[in-house]
Amino acid sequence: MGCQYFDPCENGADSFTIAIPRYTFGRGCLREAGARAAGLGMSRVALFTDPFLRDSAYVATVLESLRQAGIDSAVFDEITIEADDASVERGAAFIADGDFDGVVSVGGGSVMDTAKASMLYGLHPAEEFLDYFAPPLGAGRPMPRKLLPHLACATTSGTGSECTSISVLRITEIATKFVLANPVLMPQEALVDPACSDTLPAMVVASTGFDLLCHALECYTAKAYTRWDKQPDPLKRPLIQGANPWSDLAARKALEIAGEYLERGVNSAADHEARDQLMWGASLAGMAFGNSGTHLGHALSYGVTHLMHDVTTEGYQVKAPFVPHGISVIVSAPSIFRYTAAAAPERHYEAAGLLRSDLQDAGVDDAGEALARRIIELMRKTGAPNGLAGVGFGPADVPALAASSARQARAIANSPRETNLTDIENIYAAALSY
Ligand SMILES: [Fe+2]
Repeated sequence: MGCQYFDPCENGADSFTIAIPRYTFGRGCLREAGARAAGLGMSRVALFTDPFLRDSAYVATVLESLRQAGIDSAVFDEITIEADDASVERGAAFIADGDFDGVVSVGGGSVMDTAKASMLYGLHPAEEFLDYFAPPLGAGRPMPRKLLPHLACATTSGTGSECTSISVLRITEIATKFVLANPVLMPQEALVDPACSDTLPAMVVASTGFDLLCHALECYTAKAYTRWDKQPDPLKRPLIQGANPWSDLAARKALEIAGEYLERGVNSAADHEARDQLMWGASLAGMAFGNSGTHLGHALSYGVTHLMHDVTTEGYQVKAPFVPHGISVIVSAPSIFRYTAAAAPERHYEAAGLLRSDLQDAGVDDAGEALARRIIELMRKTGAPNGLAGVGFGPADVPALAASSARQARAIANSPRETNLTDIENIYAAALSY
């Protein structure tokens, strides 16, 4: 079935492109930061982190390792918990003024995404912030071919940003997140020390774990790359290129990891095996979706974070309104996969099996339902909010949520099933509570 999924289509893509950074994983590997930065030719580093991590042992370890390698560093920590244009503008000024020859980021997705974009805007300023974003929102200005070398050290088990050429930023004026995507944003090296996850609060592990689960599930069920139009200029082949044999490989393993370890990792900080596996799974899922694109799960999460009001989440030191990224994705996921399963039932069935769904009485035609039930079970067992109602939305919000998310056009087109505005409204309406 794997081969059939990638059957050639008329005028469809016949090639796919994979990009991942040099990658190091293991307990204690943060101590390699100095040697690795030196290996990348860095002598004066901008270290990006956030205010909560600034005084942590992790940042101290990296700074000491840089010092021992003879590398000078300056710390930038003015990053909000959700990467936004204001953080990037501050970071860009820091880069522009600092005479750096490298960047090291230590943190979760927001830190890494801010570091990526700060280099872009600091070294190649835009007249308008949106210039580098894709139309219709932005001007689609071409990005430079080269930025500074970037060593990304992930401290949470979710975004996989250490392995992607994506930066997700909230644009304050319109309260909406949009994606910068370009090969130049890919870190040269990633360093993932799972010991960083030992101190994460349960709800942070749940949110980032659901993010990794959805990255894997969305890229495994995404439209096949052969069903996207062939791109005549190979250098313009989009990063959202659809499911392909590489993304399948990494996504399958990440789904197995989420199925086996998500609940354990959330419910016990002492379960190092589970938390280590989730860190590994997050990188795998990043390597997968960074080379295939996500689809409806992520597209529909943008409506949630755009329109959220009066809602907070335990475990995060941040003021309302706030719904962490992984939660904004998972609340609609059961409803989404009930909808998409009809277009790729075998893939949904396999994914359900990898996630350890109970398939005893379920056939391929029940794949969407089996997958949805398993996701709902994981949400319950980890204390995640129950659907959109759990993060403050009601039936009256559905049209506005759908109109907001409909702007994520390419991700929606990466869904295996054709999806219009009415379909999105129906998906949200069925996601209010489970
Ligand atoms: Fe995500």
